[in-house]
Amino acid sequence: MKKIGIIGANGMVGRTLQAEFKKIKTPFEVVALGRQDEVPPLDAAVFCTDNPDSARLYPLLKDRIGYIVDMSAQFRQEKNVPLVIPEINPHAITADTRLIASPNCTTTGLVMTMAPLRKLYPLTEVFFCSYQAISGGGKKLLEEFRTPGSLYENNCVPLIGSIQENGYSSEELKGIYETRKILEMPKVKVFPHTIRVAVENAHSLGVTLRAEAPFDLQQVKQAWNAFPNLAYREEIITPKQASGQETTFACRLRRDAEDPCIIHYFITFDNLLKGAAMNARQIIELLLEKFL
Ligand SMILES: NC(=O)c1ccc[n+]([C@@H]2O[C@H](COP(=O)([O-])OP(=O)(O)OC[C@H]3O[C@@H](n4cnc5c(N)ncnc54)[C@H](OP(=O)(O)O)[C@@H]3O)[C@@H](O)[C@H]2O)c1
Repeated sequence: MKKIGIIGANGMVGRTLQAEFKKIKTPFEVVALGRQDEVPPLDAAVFCTDNPDSARLYPLLKDRIGYIVDMSAQFRQEKNVPLVIPEINPHAITADTRLIASPNCTTTGLVMTMAPLRKLYPLTEVFFCSYQAISGGGKKLLEEFRTPGSLYENNCVPLIGSIQENGYSSEELKGIYETRKILEMPKVKVFPHTIRVAVENAHSLGVTLRAEAPFDLQQVKQAWNAFPNLAYREEIITPKQASGQETTFACRLRRDAEDPCIIHYFITFDNLLKGAAMNARQIIELLLEKFL
């Protein structure tokens, strides 16, 4: 029986992935590993670790593990590392692939709504402002949030990650470069703001999308509803409802008051599921089906 590991099994994503693995129909052995555990030879593994840990672990473990799915940002922009959302670009994984990156959670929700539209409309620009949940920052941030007097208590904080030389946050730059790579749209312009809000789980984004042709709102809704794990709701939907769900929800779709080539909408989705562990589970399912 194939052995598939979870490295970092006690973190937010690792714990969620342990539950996600139970949904996989093909039988395999789960090897859940924490920081102190020795890593045995494995057919595949998901690294649920931060950038420095993934960077340190990869060279040590790559010859012992058949396929590695990395949840961190460490390898996402490397040319030969596919950045994969199975609903969008499963073809990026080829017979030669051994390391696969799973994208940033906020970018995942955004591109889930752009992917079904890119063949219908020549998309040129996207602006978004995120309202990101505390669980997206891992278990230490959740502990900090629950400590009385925390900066995050009853608040919103306009910085996620670290400020870069150009003034953007590292989280905002992920929104730009990962969107282009996943959608294979190197010229699409992305204007990100990323904000942490006092919501325990499920990220949200307000999105403004521009194309070179007028949008037909019914066609947009139909395209979204026909896409796997994406749904348009006529009623308002909030992170409280999206938490624990596999679906990425969109609502409040409207055409710009002055320009028919622009639409505005709101999305919300579970960052630990579609934004992380569910996406990793789907990549493992794909590997089991095609390569393992
Ligand atoms: N949270 C999200 O919504 C989300 C979404 C998309 C992507 N991601 C990415 O997924 C990764 C994990 O995020 P997270 O939120 O789960 O963080 P987390 O809650 O901080 O968990 C990270 C885990 O990695 C463990 N770890 C570190 N070094 C290890 C090693 N050498 N061997 C085994 N385990 C090790 C840590 O162990 P200790 O418990 O001993 O510290 C911790 O349990 C990050 O790269 C993050 O950016 C997260």
